[in-house]
Parts: sequence; C-alpha cells; structure tokens
Amino acid sequence: MLHQLKSKVSDIIKESDKDTNEKLLAICELLKENVPYYDWVGFYFRNGNKEELKLGPYAGTPTDHTIIPFGKGICGQVAVSNKNFVVPDVGAQDNYIACSITVKAEIVVPLFVNGKNIGQIDIDSNTPDPFSEEDERFLEYINQEVAKIY
Ligand code: SME
Repeated sequence: MLHQLKSKVSDIIKESDKDTNEKLLAICELLKENVPYYDWVGFYFRNGNKEELKLGPYAGTPTDHTIIPFGKGICGQVAVSNKNFVVPDVGAQDNYIACSITVKAEIVVPLFVNGKNIGQIDIDSNTPDPFSEEDERFLEYINQEVAKIY
C-alpha cells in the first residue's frame, strides 16, 4: 500500500500548476485518505532563525499547537535530535504534547535539505502501535522528494 503511494507523491512534487504549500497539502491529504492508520498528517518547519517549529500544511483536525519550541514534545525533540521518533504509545511519553485525546501513537521523521534539518513530517494515529520500519522508510522517501522543492 505504501509502495503504491510513492509514485503518486513524486507526481505531486512534479505538478507545475501547484506551489510548494499546495504540493505539501496534497501530499498530506493523499496520505491521510489512503493509509487507514494515518489520522493526522502535517509538516512542521523551523520558524526562521528561531528555536521553534511552525505548523505548515496539514490534513486532519486543526491543532492549537501551531508553534512548538525546540525540545518540546515529540516534534520539538526531533528538531534537536535529527532522528526519526516512533512512539507506539503516546501515553508512555513524558515529553509529549497532546493534540487530541483520540491519538494513540505518533511518528515524526526529520526533513533534510542539503544535510540540514529544516522541518519534519508528523503523523498521529488513533490506532495503538501501528508504525513499522516500512513507515519510516516511506516517510524518509517522501521527505527526500519534498527536499527537491526547497
Ligand atoms: N504530538 C506532537 C505535537 C503536534 S500534534 O501531534 C499535531 C508532539 O508531541 O510534539
């Protein structure tokens, strides 16, 4: 399932009638609609030179957490660690920012442009422990595609 979505993501990246944010939104919507355990899909980006993340395009319920300081929550930790963060059970995390009480699990994969961590893709799931290495490789692929338009 994830494999078939790769070529669709690459097609979106190449679409000439969409600007960058429209492409990111289309990717979020594609993923949310087609992967049953992806319930909220969004991009966060470093906010200028500030030590904080700012919410970019997303698909799913609106969140209050449009700004996240570096180090805070799962997203803020990935901004500092530069590493994928897979959380099978959000209830077991101390440094976690809850966006919705329905969320059971989360995965965050950093987005590198020329080796620099400029942001991340963040996915929340209402299903407990749904993410595997296949999701990590898939989301790394997506971020590599997105990096081409930055
Ligand atoms: N749960 C995230 C905050 C962002 S929401 O999931 C959209 C975190 O702990 O960083």
